[in-house]
Amino acid sequence: MANEWGPLWGLVGDWHGEGGLDTAFSHSRNQVLGTPYLEKVTMKPFGPVDNGSQHLYGLDYKTAMWRNDEENPFHTEVGYWLWDGATGEVLRGFVVPRGITVLAGGNAAADATTFSMAADLGGTNYTIGENQYLADKASSISYRVSITVNADDTWSYEETTMLKMAEFPEPFAHTDHNTLRRV
Ligand code: HEM
Repeated sequence: MANEWGPLWGLVGDWHGEGGLDTAFSHSRNQVLGTPYLEKVTMKPFGPVDNGSQHLYGLDYKTAMWRNDEENPFHTEVGYWLWDGATGEVLRGFVVPRGITVLAGGNAAADATTFSMAADLGGTNYTIGENQYLADKASSISYRVSITVNADDTWSYEETTMLKMAEFPEPFAHTDHNTLRRV
């Protein structure tokens, strides 16, 4: 269904996904580790937000991921997804509490069921901010995410954050993917 939220409408709601998989360098294990995770996401619609003649409709979102039966999530994000129906621009702005902010963007059709967003360190519009320690030791040089809204009332994402890490001579692909079902 196309409405003011365009391709974001299929993401509205509360979601769980048990089949997440993270690939990251673990400092405690000193190795690249694949970590399965449980994720809980909430996406609340709002809008319009007016910037002069621009009218944005968005989702207020929170997500958190847990491994096994740990009490505290090992990764969280808060932020907004935004849609500009006049231009077809789709945005995801969020904070990772490691001291990282991301504004990723792309273009999509209003009725798209799959779309992508990207941000690059030093990018003009879609960019990444990070703290001084991370800039030195584990810099997020790019972020790419693809979203697919599935026919069975689930949605999936695949994302890759390229990290320039002190441990590796070449950029390292920190990846995450999951499928979320409505609760
Ligand atoms: C589902 C999403 C994500 C999960 C589950 C996740 C999880 C993790 C884990 C487990 C580590 C390893 C920490 C350690 O043991 O040392 C890590 C490291 C890191 N993540 Fe993520 N991450 C996610 C998304 C992101 C995103 C979107 C960014 C940035 C745009 C990011 C940036 C980093 C950085 C910079 C580090 C390295 C920290 C360091 O080495 O000091 N992550 N992440």
